[in-house]
Amino acid sequence: MKKILVIGSMNMDFVAAVPHLPALGETMLAQSLDLVPGGKGANQACAIGRLGGHVAMLGCVGADTYGETLCANLAGAGVDVSHVCRKEQASTSIAVIGVTPQGDNSILVLPGANSGVDPAYIQAHLDLLEECDMVVLQLEIPLPTVIYAAREAKRRGKMVVLDPAPAVPDLPEELYSCVDLIKPNETELSILTGRPYRPKYLRESAQALQAKGVKNVLVTLGGDGSYLLKENGMEKRLYANQAVNVVDTTAAGDGYMAGLCVGLAQGQSLDEATELAAAVSSLVVSRRGAQTSIPTLKEVLEAQAGWRNSKK
Ligand code: RIB
Repeated sequence: MKKILVIGSMNMDFVAAVPHLPALGETMLAQSLDLVPGGKGANQACAIGRLGGHVAMLGCVGADTYGETLCANLAGAGVDVSHVCRKEQASTSIAVIGVTPQGDNSILVLPGANSGVDPAYIQAHLDLLEECDMVVLQLEIPLPTVIYAAREAKRRGKMVVLDPAPAVPDLPEELYSCVDLIKPNETELSILTGRPYRPKYLRESAQALQAKGVKNVLVTLGGDGSYLLKENGMEKRLYANQAVNVVDTTAAGDGYMAGLCVGLAQGQSLDEATELAAAVSSLVVSRRGAQTSIPTLKEVLEAQAGWRNSKK
């Protein structure tokens, strides 16, 4: 099993159950509030750990109880958190999430200690970068850090996987050129390319990212599956092959990303790894919360067997 290094955000999620997502200027009453370990980076590390991956996390929390809870939860999932930085001068980052009865959400992130994931912190841990085989990045930490980490990883011949979330337009080509695999959803694809998402233009949009220097592009399409455009120009459209009872889509992309990375770390092809990714994501959306919704490998294998049997 190859070694995976996740560099990213660690948030305590404040999750409010709301009747619908608030409209502009609307005040509404929430039905409940839960505190759940989250953050895109931490969710991906947690899921890689629960899926049996060999994973270490680089991120920052505050020297507070939320930070302790986040580290303990990751450690419990098998993630090496010994290099996570605990900042005395900052509070653990918080995400405020509204989730509707249909499972849709809206998320606000207060960066807090995530801002401490700066290039100097990565520079102090280049030994970890050296030791790993794959570096997993998202965009919830400062962009200069993502660019620096991607560049240093590429220089060392590591596989660089980028989840461009939350997406921002005009990512520099310097970053794209270091990325082996990028995994936007359809909204992120539209932000990255500056063109509205249209299913019939998926190939053109993915090619636009390849023109910026990315090797492989995998676009997730929610209940409609995914679209893969490989470095060699081969494309593959995958369709969701089982009906899922969606209760909360939070961390669906993170679970997908983790399944993908674990599959690749086990030596699977990109095509095979997307199947594991889709299975993980299907289970995540059927449960509530971020890290509370992430399955173990055993649960994923059992679910896949159940889905196969139900088709016979
Ligand atoms: O991807 C889901 C995550 O986005 C949540 O856990 C929240 O913390 C935000 O980072």
